[in-house]
Amino acid sequence: VPAGEASKSLRVAGELYAWLSEQRAERADVILALGGGVVGDLAGYVAATYLRGIALVQLPTSVLAMNDAAIGGKAAVDLAAGKNLVGAFHQPRAVIADTSTLSTLPRRAYLEGFGEVIKHAMILDPELLRQLERRGQALTRANPDIDALTEVTARSARLKALIVSSDPHERGLRAILNYGHTIAHAIESVTGYSEYLHGEAVSIGMAGAARISERMGLIDEETLTRQLDLQRAFGLPLQASGLARDAVLDAMLMDKKVVDGKARFILLEGIGHAVVRDDVPAELIEETVRGLVSP
Ligand SMILES: NC(=O)c1ccc[n+]([C@@H]2O[C@H](COP(=O)([O-])OP(=O)(O)OC[C@H]3O[C@@H](n4cnc5c(N)ncnc54)[C@H](O)[C@@H]3O)[C@@H](O)[C@H]2O)c1
Ligand SMILES: [Zn+2]
Repeated sequence: VPAGEASKSLRVAGELYAWLSEQRAERADVILALGGGVVGDLAGYVAATYLRGIALVQLPTSVLAMNDAAIGGKAAVDLAAGKNLVGAFHQPRAVIADTSTLSTLPRRAYLEGFGEVIKHAMILDPELLRQLERRGQALTRANPDIDALTEVTARSARLKALIVSSDPHERGLRAILNYGHTIAHAIESVTGYSEYLHGEAVSIGMAGAARISERMGLIDEETLTRQLDLQRAFGLPLQASGLARDAVLDAMLMDKKVVDGKARFILLEGIGHAVVRDDVPAELIEETVRGLVSP
């Protein structure tokens, strides 16, 4: 299928159904999803629905897909009204990531993927954080060290698998994977998904969530600085410019996760300890967003 988010559509899914029936695909067949998160979500959705569901194996080829999108069984296509609006939970039989495929990934897409890896380290794994700090240079240079990449990807992907297998339908624990995403989703929505790649928006959102955690006395300044330094080392943004702060604040309150006008945040109580909080004072949210977003 053509590269790009536009392929995550009912139209392209329809073409894949037609192809599968031409090929006489059967219940016992297996769909292999080879590509980035777009291919994974699209093929996953088709596998979840064709003949009421056939087996799926994810073969992710982007950092984001290896560490996040290919794991967890969420599959969806987009509608004109919004992203991921039609979908299903359909667990892959296996996820096989060959990190050598990452050598051809465009640089910006490569670095972006580390937004979610840093997220996994901050919410779940102090040792992964140390690995990222130690191997930062080897991972971000033009020709990344494949052993470092494999070590970090294996560890980070395992964390996501651990969380989603203990909460496959997103009823509880899985919520902590939304660290940085309250603000990220608002930034993506205000910019119409055009300005920032997802991992970049998450990076800005994580800078906000860590700052809120620090201001609420949950983490010390050193922890905040460690996270921000690591984000910088991976070339990820900590701030957004060219967008209206009020628009971002409004978009946060429009989010489906808002209950009783209270935005829900995943905060840190330390490295590897995330908590869900809906009691962040409105003034602190405003002040934080003002620090992150400039017109
Ligand atoms: N299902 C989930 O849980 C989940 C989680 C996060 C994101 N997603 C989805 O994932 C998608 C984003 O995934 P992505 O960041 O992988 O984007 P993508 O699939 O669009 O890939 C980015 C670009 O890199 C190209 N590419 C992929 N692998 C390559 C390689 N090895 N060498 C050269 N080029 C390569 C792609 O063709 C594309 O142009 C979004 O649609 C998002 O909604 C899903
Ligand atoms: Zn994400």
